[in-house]
Amino acid sequence: MCGIVGYVGRQKAATILLEGLKRLEYRGYDSAGLAVLQNGRIDFAKKTGRVGNLVKEAKNHHFTGTTGISHTRWATHGGVTDANAHPHLSSDDKFALVHNGVIENYSSIKKFLVSQGYTFKSETDTEVLCNLIAYHYAKEPADVGESRFLESVRKALRHVEGTYGIAVICPEAPGELVAARKGSPLILGVGDNEFIVASDVAALISHTQNVVYLKDGEVVHVTPKEFFISTLDQEDVSPVVDRVTWDIEAAELNGYAHFMEKEIFEQPAALENSMRGRFSEDGSTAKFGGLNLGPVEFRQIDRFVFLGCGTAWHACLVAEHLLERFARVPAEADYASEFRYRNAPLSGNPLFFVFSQSGETIDTLGALREAKRKGYKVLAVNNTVGSTIARETDGGIYQYVGPEIGVASTKAFTSQLLIGAMLALHVARMRDMSFADGVEYVNALKGVPALVRHVLEQAPRIKEIAHRYAHHTDFLFLGRLSLFPIALEGALKLKEISYIHAEGYPAAEMKHGPIALISEKCPSVFFAPKGEIFNKLVSSIQEVKARRGPAIVITTEGCEFPPGLADDIITIPDCHEAVLPIVATIPVQLLSYYIACARKCDVDKPRNLAKSVTVE
Ligand code: F6R
Repeated sequence: MCGIVGYVGRQKAATILLEGLKRLEYRGYDSAGLAVLQNGRIDFAKKTGRVGNLVKEAKNHHFTGTTGISHTRWATHGGVTDANAHPHLSSDDKFALVHNGVIENYSSIKKFLVSQGYTFKSETDTEVLCNLIAYHYAKEPADVGESRFLESVRKALRHVEGTYGIAVICPEAPGELVAARKGSPLILGVGDNEFIVASDVAALISHTQNVVYLKDGEVVHVTPKEFFISTLDQEDVSPVVDRVTWDIEAAELNGYAHFMEKEIFEQPAALENSMRGRFSEDGSTAKFGGLNLGPVEFRQIDRFVFLGCGTAWHACLVAEHLLERFARVPAEADYASEFRYRNAPLSGNPLFFVFSQSGETIDTLGALREAKRKGYKVLAVNNTVGSTIARETDGGIYQYVGPEIGVASTKAFTSQLLIGAMLALHVARMRDMSFADGVEYVNALKGVPALVRHVLEQAPRIKEIAHRYAHHTDFLFLGRLSLFPIALEGALKLKEISYIHAEGYPAAEMKHGPIALISEKCPSVFFAPKGEIFNKLVSSIQEVKARRGPAIVITTEGCEFPPGLADDIITIPDCHEAVLPIVATIPVQLLSYYIACARKCDVDKPRNLAKSVTVE
């Protein structure tokens, strides 16, 4: 949420900042702005709306400076106005600052600064922090040998409660930039005599693949030639420069209309990547390098607890189901946001897994910290190397699906389903699952990219169905057992990108309330695969049809329905129970994508949403 980019180097900063902002736009698109040091002062431009508006506005300025900062906003404090857009300048014009996060004690600091003669143009917490830096700069010049600019930022941050990823420039320190983080991501790209700080690797990857993942409480002071990292308490930090394994290609549309479309179609390859090298040599189980748990320790686990938010929580629900079904171990999935405050009684020897694509979701991080505080081991299923969750867990499983840029999660979700299924196998094979069943399970997992490819081939037909239903304003998604979470996911996908009201329910629960919604105006999407409850699902469809509700049925090859029961049938290949949730997800991803396109919605930037929710 909110993206920041800062640049120090030899090139025109504005060009690099605007390019970086375009790549971070998925983090927020209420407004955008940039500030550049030139002619001994700060020149800036900011505009409500998309980065495109800022690009137009920037043409009215003559940005030539080589040091600058920029921001794309997801509004928290203050409405969506030009005045509230970042960067914010201190009232003495000595600092410009961009910020991702929330300063919780901004109101008391503001009161103090007003008493000291500082003035404010916006309603934001960010402007307060910028003036606090100016206050320290004016009042307390740093000791000889220390940058006064750097020390003023540090002093201001020591008074701040809340979260921040910030980048600051000061005309009295030309060619310098100070950036810091606590609770919001910040990465330093290390180029050849140029440096870029950004909220996400995507903003800097076209310039360098060498990065330093800053940690909470660290401050980086950048000059055109070098950088220094220290803590707020002035302790030096030795930087670790990592190499990013993907390149700019992965963050391009490559001919697709939207990142969501691209990421849906990338799923066969993404799933291959998530399982590569993760099967035992005898082909009967899954293995993971990063769990940091020996088999004996693993066997002693008496409960699995899966925590996540949104789509990741749906993956947790499937993992819960598969662990119980195949490994016969008690498991539960909980919203990370609820778990962190629920103070749930925990006993025995549970193992926690947090699921997070970004690795920065604040509620998931809060839940992780709560479980760790209580002395439990917490592992992660995570797609972002160097993320806060990756760093704070005791180990885990990387997804390796490449950057997910579409705000609506797709490939990260199916990869999490796959990893959940592999985990269930890993645990099951330590318990009661036979070698032969293990081999069958592994073969099913290995076959899943081909099955997904097969469903993707039905995209034109699903598009045609989507166009016929796109005018509806209410939908139900109904499934049972491992497909109940997929019903939730289908409803979430549809509502977030097309703004259609949609609810996911266990199919049998429909008659306990939601049935009141059924009419010819409210289509239901049913998951009715073959299996022991197939007939029960057919009965649920009958109940909908009896009330004139249109029914779109997603079923497995070979299943037969009474004539006229389903208005539309989408067939998926018959497959192993462990991979069924993955295969069944594809039609609802396509359905919601094409419905959103038919309604001319901005699929990659749905209103009010932003990827990576770093505020509570
Ligand atoms: C929905 C979606 C969100 C995320 C949720 C958690 O399409 O993307 O519901 O799944 O915000 O995000 P991560 O996985 O980054 O923790």
